[in-house]
Amino acid sequence: YVIGVDLGTSAVKVLLVDQQGQVVAQASEDYPLQQPEPGYSEQNPEDWVTGTTTAIQQLLANSQVKPGEVEGISYSGQMHGLVLLDADQQVLRPAILWNDTRTTAQTQEIMANMGQRFIEITRNRPLEGFTLPKLLWVKENEPGIFAKAATFVLPKDYVRYRMTGKINMEMSDAAGTVMLDIAKKQWSDEICAAFDLPLSLCPPLIEATTNVGTITPKFAAESGLAETTAVFGGGADNACGAIGAGITKPDQAMCSIGTSGVILTYEPDTQVDYHGQLHFFNHAITDRFYSMGVTLAAGYSLSWLKKTFAPDDSFDDFVGSAEQSTIGAHGLLFTPYIVGERTPYADAKIRGSFIGVDGKQVRADFIRAVLEGIVFSFRDILEIYAENGKDFKQLVSIGGGAKSPLWLQIQADIFNKDIVRLESEQGPGMGAAMIAAVGLGWFANFDECVDKFIAIKTIYHPIAANVARYSEFYKVYQQVYGQTKDLTA
Ligand code: XUL
Repeated sequence: YVIGVDLGTSAVKVLLVDQQGQVVAQASEDYPLQQPEPGYSEQNPEDWVTGTTTAIQQLLANSQVKPGEVEGISYSGQMHGLVLLDADQQVLRPAILWNDTRTTAQTQEIMANMGQRFIEITRNRPLEGFTLPKLLWVKENEPGIFAKAATFVLPKDYVRYRMTGKINMEMSDAAGTVMLDIAKKQWSDEICAAFDLPLSLCPPLIEATTNVGTITPKFAAESGLAETTAVFGGGADNACGAIGAGITKPDQAMCSIGTSGVILTYEPDTQVDYHGQLHFFNHAITDRFYSMGVTLAAGYSLSWLKKTFAPDDSFDDFVGSAEQSTIGAHGLLFTPYIVGERTPYADAKIRGSFIGVDGKQVRADFIRAVLEGIVFSFRDILEIYAENGKDFKQLVSIGGGAKSPLWLQIQADIFNKDIVRLESEQGPGMGAAMIAAVGLGWFANFDECVDKFIAIKTIYHPIAANVARYSEFYKVYQQVYGQTKDLTA
C-alpha cells in the first residue's frame, strides 16, 4: 500500500491506495485560513502537521491495513506558500499562502530590476502568489524576522520535514518560487544576487520520486505509521493533479476546479515560449514540464456564493438547483474575479461582477451564472493555448467541476471540446500516491502507473446548439474585464 497526502488550502486529505490503484480508505482534516488584513492569507504550519497526523491516524483506523504494510508515502501540496525557518528549523511567522495578494509592489520591483531576464530564467511573470515576492515582502516589512531566517520551504516540504527530520524542496514546487532556473533545475544565483538574498536560504533540491528516508520515531508514535515507511518528495498540487488525471503526454490537458481553477497541459521540454502569459513549471515527472493558466477564484466563487446566500444547503443540492435555470442563466453573466485574477489579466486588484440582473431571475440563475462564469474564465486560458497553436481534443476534468454532470456539460459546451470524467476521481492525492508507487519501483514510469491506476468513466460531448449560444455569451464575457477593471474593492 501507499499513502497520498493532499495538503490543500482548506483541508488535508489522505488516501490509502493498493497496488491496483484502488482507494481502500480515506480521511481528511480541515484547518483554518487567517486573513488578518484585506488581501492577506495565512496559515499556521503547525495546523498542517496536526491535521496530517490526525488524518493518518484515522486513515489507519478506517482500514484493515497494518502500518507495516504501508510501503511508501508521498505528498501533493498547495503551491507557493512561504514557510520561513530559523537556524533551529523553528517557524518564524505564519505561512504566507498562494492566494495572498499583499505583494503587488514586490512584483513590480522584480520586473523593474530584472525585466525580461527574469521571465527568461523562471519562464514566469512575477505574480503576487509566487514565493519570491513574499520573501521580498518579509525582507522589506519584517526585517527583524528576515534577519533570523536560515532557510525557507513550501507547505508540503515542511510537513515532509516534520515527518522525516530532513529539509528539502522538491523540484515541481521549487519552480513555483520563481527563484529557480527552470531549464537548468538549479536555484538561480542571478535572481538571488539581484535581490540580495543569500543563496544559503534556498534548501537542497530533490525530485518528486526521490526517496528522502523514513519516518522519525516521534512522528511514527504520533501518527501510527511504521518507521519503515519510505518517504518520497511529492509534487506541487497541480503537477500531482495532472498525474492523477493521467496527463503524462503532450496534447493532453486537464481542467481542475479546486479553490482555484487550472487549465494545464504537459510539456515535454522548455522549447515552447508563452512569454509569461501562462505559468510554466517543472513537472513532478523528472525532466518534464507543464504549463497552466490559473483562475484564482474558481470553486472559491461558488463556495462564496453558497456561504453568503445558502449556508445551510448541502453543496450537491446547491449546485444541483442550477438545473432549474437554463443555458445563459436567463441573461445573467458572472465574472469570477472576486479575489483578483491571474490568467489572462495578472491583476490582483480587479473584482468580479454580475451583469444583466433581471427582476425575473431567481436564485438558481445566480448559481448557474457562477458555474458558467468560472468556465468562461477557463475559456480565456484555452484561447491563449489556441493562439500558441495548442488545440486540445479533450480535457480531463478533476476536482469540484468533475462531480456535477451539469457542470461537466457546461465545460464541454463552453470549450466546444470533449470532457472526460474519470472512473475514480481522487484529484492530487492520487497523483501523490502514484509518486510513491513509482518511487517504490512498483512501475518503471508514470505512464505504466497511469495505465494501471486511471480509467475513463464518461465522456461529455459538446452539444452544437449550446456551443453556439455560449460563444455569443463568451463574446460579452470577454468585454467585461475592460469595462470593470477600475472598480476595486
Ligand atoms: C497555482 C496556484 C494554486 C495553488 C492551489 O499557481 O497558486 O493552484 O497551487 O493550491
